[in-house]
Amino acid sequence: IGKTIRYVKSTASTQHLAHEWARQGANHGSLVIADEQTGGKGRMGRTWHSPPGSGIWMSFILKPNIPLIATPHLTLLFSVAVTRALHTETGIDVSIKWPNDLFIAGRKVCGILTEVRAEADRVHYCVAGIGINVHPASVKHLPQPVRETAVSLGEVTKKPLRRAQIVASCCTEIENLMSLYEEKGFSPIRTLWESYAFMLGKQVTVRTSDGTKSGEAIGLDQSGALVLKTPSGTERIYSADMDLSR
Ligand code: BTN
Repeated sequence: IGKTIRYVKSTASTQHLAHEWARQGANHGSLVIADEQTGGKGRMGRTWHSPPGSGIWMSFILKPNIPLIATPHLTLLFSVAVTRALHTETGIDVSIKWPNDLFIAGRKVCGILTEVRAEADRVHYCVAGIGINVHPASVKHLPQPVRETAVSLGEVTKKPLRRAQIVASCCTEIENLMSLYEEKGFSPIRTLWESYAFMLGKQVTVRTSDGTKSGEAIGLDQSGALVLKTPSGTERIYSADMDLSR
């Protein structure tokens, strides 16, 4: 992973470049990195603020041999990989908010956008877009009230950070976890994910396409869905936005 890297100074979104490269036959593990994105994309159609020189804006092209329905496993795997990489490089405790936002002390430091292209019912390729706020400038100009909910690694460590080193660590972790997933399946990834998740055992509210659901987050099931304990029984959440209840 990360043996072939395309680096660009500025682009609309590394997701677009990665999809283009994948269509042209990029190898498994190819990586696109931009110093700046002018049209960074977040989950659920949101924008991702990506000013120059301040963060890691990168997209991996991965070709796992898995069925399309296993896509949530990948997303969860990436969040575990980046959590571990950030901990190794900075010593900071990073935790995961379902499904794959990374937080430091209640503020978001990294977002992950997983996009797959299918061939029949298999994953043809996957583009894993990872945005990490490294230096304080990455969040300084975020509009309020989003600014309040975001954080950069630099604000927490107060020591110099090298983006290349963090990228290298992400590559190593993704490679290791993908091998683990290939060998042992989702179970060990799930256990790791649950050990980093900060909302388990708490009351949460999720907004899904068919309304709002509240309950206690108790863990993941084998498909990667979040399991909620609600007064009317167990609910499985496949895709949603989540808030911790007050
Ligand atoms: C989210 O939290 O909503 C996901 C954010 C993903 C941002 C990354 S930055 C690199 C890649 N290129 C993009 O346009 N988005 C992802």
